[in-house]
Amino acid sequence: MKKVITYGTFDLFHEGHFNILRRAKELGDYLIVGVTTEQYDETRGKLNIVDSLDERIRNVKATGFADEVIVEDHLGQKVEDIQKREIDIFTVGSDWTGQFDYLRDYCEVVYLPRTENVSTTLKKSRSIIKLGIIGSGRIASRFASEAHFVSGVHVTSVYNPREESAQSFASRFGVSAFTDNFDAFLQSVDAVYIASPHGTHCEYAKKALQNKKHVLSEKPLAFFKKDAEELYALARENKCVLLEALKTAYCPGFNQLLGLARSGVIGSIRDVEATFTRLTNDGGREKEDEVFGGGWTEYGSYVLLPIIKLLGKDFEDVQFSSILAPNGIDLYTKASFKFKNGLALAKTGVGVKSEGQLVIAGTKGYILAPSPWWLTKEFEVHYEDFTKIDKYSATFLGQGFRYELSEFAYLINGYGERSYKFTAGESIAMADVMERFMSHRKKFMESQ
Ligand code: CTP
Repeated sequence: MKKVITYGTFDLFHEGHFNILRRAKELGDYLIVGVTTEQYDETRGKLNIVDSLDERIRNVKATGFADEVIVEDHLGQKVEDIQKREIDIFTVGSDWTGQFDYLRDYCEVVYLPRTENVSTTLKKSRSIIKLGIIGSGRIASRFASEAHFVSGVHVTSVYNPREESAQSFASRFGVSAFTDNFDAFLQSVDAVYIASPHGTHCEYAKKALQNKKHVLSEKPLAFFKKDAEELYALARENKCVLLEALKTAYCPGFNQLLGLARSGVIGSIRDVEATFTRLTNDGGREKEDEVFGGGWTEYGSYVLLPIIKLLGKDFEDVQFSSILAPNGIDLYTKASFKFKNGLALAKTGVGVKSEGQLVIAGTKGYILAPSPWWLTKEFEVHYEDFTKIDKYSATFLGQGFRYELSEFAYLINGYGERSYKFTAGESIAMADVMERFMSHRKKFMESQ
């Protein structure tokens, strides 16, 4: 009996998939099809998979060509499968020609002709989302250089009240349109990414939502709880997606860490300590913007995220203490939270350097994620028995912007109702903490 094996994602199942399975089956007597997990695809840079693994397997089975379906979840698995299952022929489409020649040591390798003019990527790009970027500074640049990793989204325009700045951004990133006319800009796009100065996020988001445009806004979305609530209500009313762009929330490693923390492996979670400090340049916005500058407005969202995710939105009390610069911005802030069943400490700084780590303490052990935990690549679980340490690592591609954009596109395309990775309620809770911090800073400044 001649055994054949082939692999693929088989997302948004199409004619090309059907044809390759038919041809693969014709090569032998028994066909095994490996279907990739979403996590494995993430590590290979394929991000916005639409269909669930279940659904993709069902579609492969429905063709009637597969005698057996297996799941592919790690690099190197093909070599193992081929040996273990005594495979005679490995086959894939001709788009992969040459890339699997290393398997010739174990079996015959056949590259089958690919079906013309059809692919998952092409299917997604038929309903392309025209995305406009508001602001053309540092963060917008980093975002733009990653946006092309997300299929189905195209950055078509950039807005800046200073037209020359928008123009230079557009030419640097190959964006076809730029403008200083906000209304015209809004009319030309389906969705916006807000990367303007902090104090302007809320107003831009409001205008975009009123014009029925989906919004991905840099953090902090709002400085007042009421404003955040209004924005989410507006999004609901206009049937638009509103997502706060806090990249940690959407990255795979951080979600793996949350899952592990909630699994009971460290018992019940009782304390979360998160620190993020970055010494910024004198003269920069972080130190000079007397209203919206400072450590907490810059990095508070990062340190709040694991706290809110793991201990909830309903803290009983929060106390801030800060070291302020003469102009009133906080060089360093500690926020101490009390929850019904736990405690938390969040530290941020632009003028004081500390160890940027995340520690989640439980009744049976603790999780330690070293700096930069906000781009989660690795973490450890420690126990009372200090000789036992479990280490975990995760993929984190680029600077992480592709993950938030991928989630945004997924929601716009109607594949999910809401983001569980960062909910409206969690984003509103963050605005609430931001509001309390601003009032603390004002009072503290007045008392000095
Ligand atoms: N395939 C094919 N003809 C196509 C599309 C895919 O023969 N038009 C083959 C691929 O070469 C591979 C298998 O189908 O052997 C599964 O491919 P997969 O990556 O799941 O599908 P694509 O449509 O190529 O997906 P994407 O656009 O996301 O790369």
